[in-house]
Amino acid sequence: MTLLLDVKNLSKTYPAGSEKVRALQGVSFHLEEGQFASLMGPSGCGKSTLLHLLGGMEAPTAGEILFDGRPLSFGGDESLSLLRRNSIGFVFQFFNLLPHFTALENVEVPLLLKGEPPAAGRARALELLSKVGLDGKKDRRPSQLSGGEQQRVAIARALVNGPRLLLADEPTGNLDTGTGKAVLDLLRQVCLSERCAVLMATHSREASEWGDLIIMMRDGQINAIYPVRR
Ligand SMILES: Nc1ncnc2c1ncn2[C@@H]1O[C@H](COP(=O)(O)OP(=O)(O)O)[C@@H](O)[C@H]1O
Ligand SMILES: [Mg+2]
Repeated sequence: MTLLLDVKNLSKTYPAGSEKVRALQGVSFHLEEGQFASLMGPSGCGKSTLLHLLGGMEAPTAGEILFDGRPLSFGGDESLSLLRRNSIGFVFQFFNLLPHFTALENVEVPLLLKGEPPAAGRARALELLSKVGLDGKKDRRPSQLSGGEQQRVAIARALVNGPRLLLADEPTGNLDTGTGKAVLDLLRQVCLSERCAVLMATHSREASEWGDLIIMMRDGQINAIYPVRR
């Protein structure tokens, strides 16, 4: 197995008036290529903060993140935005689709931002929509889709650039149990076929068992990492 992500002693402190919130305190773990890991822990334990740092959306207060052996550079050069655009996908709890765009257009957005020729981009977007079972609904807007379908569009969008890592923040938090399970099955299956690793934050024990690995967090720290038995 090849190491994809190596997280070393990561800390993040937010100012809160005269106090400080220590959202992450010395977090270390690694993720292999293609692995599916769940980040499990109660609300407020630092899951979203960790995903934001790994996605390059915020800079750590201390520590280091190696992606493919290279440290993420938070110094403001272009390498971080290139990494975000090409190698990392993001799925959110509230789907975050563009309301005036169709399902197909939503999936195409990351390709357009990358400057991909429209024809090539469209074929790739259609391939992904088909993988998530939505080819028949490609022309619908988000409001004309169910929650589960909207999340499937968001998964297709996250994968359209062929990322090596997908970060998912409570992706089933806004779905009923049955729909949530179907979305997790799909996430697992599509990421496997796309050879994309997944790090999924959840506070649900049941959801966490979709992964190969469970990373347990509490109060900004990792207190256990163990494989899921199947
Ligand atoms: N931008 C911010 N400013 C101040 N405090 C924050 C900010 N983001 C998160 N926090 C705090 O950091 C801690 C971890 O939050 P978060 O990562 O959102 O947890 P989780 O996703 O596990 O619910 C919480 O105490 C939260 O209030
Ligand atoms: Mg969160």
